[in-house]
Amino acid sequence: MDGHPVAYSRSTITELMVPAYANFGGKIHGGTLLSLMDKIAYVCASKHAGNYCVTVSVDTVQFLQPAEVGEVVSLMGSVNYVGNTSLVVGIKVIAENVQSGVTKHTNTCYFTMMAKGPDGNKATVPPLILETDDDIRRFSSALARRQLRQEGLRKMEAYKADFRYNSDIDRLLADQRCVIRRK
Ligand SMILES: CC(C)(COP(=O)(O)OP(=O)(O)OC[C@H]1O[C@@H](n2cnc3c(N)ncnc32)[C@H](O)[C@@H]1OP(=O)(O)O)[C@@H](O)C(=O)NCCC(=O)NCCS
Repeated sequence: MDGHPVAYSRSTITELMVPAYANFGGKIHGGTLLSLMDKIAYVCASKHAGNYCVTVSVDTVQFLQPAEVGEVVSLMGSVNYVGNTSLVVGIKVIAENVQSGVTKHTNTCYFTMMAKGPDGNKATVPPLILETDDDIRRFSSALARRQLRQEGLRKMEAYKADFRYNSDIDRLLADQRCVIRRK
C-alpha cells in the first residue's frame, strides 16, 4: 500500500499581523486567523491527497490568547488522520513578538478536509505513514474525536426528534439566564 509519511505534507504559514487585520478592540480578528487556518489545512491536505480538497468541518477552535498587531503569526499544520476520502489536519498557531522574541500559543484546532478528484467526485486518499510516537498519538486521538463526534451527533438528533415542551424543560431552564414569554 503506497502512502505518505506525516512529514511529507507538514507545512507552515507565517504572516505579519498588519493593522488591517485588527478588530475594534485593537486585537487580531478571529476570522483572520480562521482564514489562515483554512489555508494551511488546504495546503497540508491537498499535498497529502495529491488532489483538490474542500473543508468539511472544524473541531474545537479556541482562541486561548489574542494575537496583537505587529506580531508574527506562524501556523504549523500536519495531517493527523486519514479516512477513505477525508483527512484531519491538526493546526497549532503561535504568535511571536519579534522585538522581544516572546511567543505565545494562541490556538490549536482540527480541520476535516475531503479530497475531490478531477471529475469533482470524492477521491480516496493515500494511507498515512506514522513514523513517530507523536504521529501515532495524533492519529489515535483523531479517531477518538471522530467517534465522539458521531456519537454526539446521533445523541443531538435523538434529542431534537424527542423534544417536547413540558415541565422538565421548565425545570431545566429555571436556573438559566433566559425569560420564557411564549406567544
Ligand atoms: C463534505 C461533503 C462533501 C460531504 O458529502 P457526502 O456525500 O455527505 O460525504 P460522506 O458522508 O460520504 O462523507 C465523506 C467523508 O467526509 C467525512 N465527513 C462528512 N461529514 C463530516 C463532518 N461533519 N465532520 C467530519 N467529517 C465528515 C465522512 O466521514 C467521510 O470521510 P471518509 O470518506 O474518510 O470516511 C458535502 O457536505 C459538501 O460538499 N460540503 C461542502 C464542502 C465545501 O464546499 N466546503 C468549502 C466551504 S464553503
